[in-house]
Amino acid sequence: MLIALHTFTTASTAGRNMVAKVIDGHAVARQVRAECRELTKSLVERGVTPGLAVIIVGENAASRVYVANKVKACTEVGLKSTVYAFDADTPGATVEAAILRLNDDPEVHGILVQLPLPAHFDVRRVLGAISSDKDVDGFHLYNVGGLVVGDTVFPPCTPYGVQKMLEYENILVEGQNVVVVGASNIVGKPMALMLMQKDATVCICHAKTRDLAQFTILADILVVAAGKPNLILPQMVRTGAVVIDVGINRLPDGRLVGDVDFEGVRRKASYITPVPGGVGPMTVTMLVHNTVKAAQRHAALA
Ligand code: GUN
Repeated sequence: MLIALHTFTTASTAGRNMVAKVIDGHAVARQVRAECRELTKSLVERGVTPGLAVIIVGENAASRVYVANKVKACTEVGLKSTVYAFDADTPGATVEAAILRLNDDPEVHGILVQLPLPAHFDVRRVLGAISSDKDVDGFHLYNVGGLVVGDTVFPPCTPYGVQKMLEYENILVEGQNVVVVGASNIVGKPMALMLMQKDATVCICHAKTRDLAQFTILADILVVAAGKPNLILPQMVRTGAVVIDVGINRLPDGRLVGDVDFEGVRRKASYITPVPGGVGPMTVTMLVHNTVKAAQRHAALA
């Protein structure tokens, strides 16, 4: 008798007239953080406390919340984090000099520059100043290049979190039609590369795509990272599709919503991520994961 060790769910095997399973980002995050906590404990026993330096420039309210969440997650897992806050009018050279000092600091294993930076910054130059060994965001061109050839040390945190969520739910990626809506450097492009690496057939749509629905309707797995509330409506989604909503939008009434009409689409999809409580907790968690990995690499070299 054959026993299946792994059962995968695909859009085509999912039933019809279903209500989607809501993927709980907090539950997946808890599992990854527990693994990170164990790894951190054994590093600390060897005299290495994983350390993250976070650089934030200016007063962007959302960035401040994100940075506070990153610090909290580090503390929970046992990492040391330090925030370097600069005024909005700080010259680029000052921030780059701070990065170079952190590159040389043996107690700092990961460096993150919170984006967006004020308009006068040359973002590529600032991110390029971070040592690729400490680039836990995965935004340095060396790590971006690694992603392109399928051999990266630090995958960018948000798409890495999405990949973990798909793995957690045993959702098959190989051979599936994946449509990524949004072509940003932070989410859309790395997401597409990571899923292509797992042998999905990937299509990237963006703000200039004509007739978005003709693409989204083909998706077995639809990843939406466009920053537009209600961009994805039920008629744009294939029955049984897996729908991952990376959007975070604050509505005028104060509510936080994603890019997907959650109530409508959940009646058509097989899996869906909520906002809040879906991808968001995973982004922070994968940053912790990458920082622990950076510390492990450092300890192995020491
Ligand atoms: N701003 C929005 N998302 C991110 C992220 O993943 N990393 C950094 N550094 N800044 C961001």
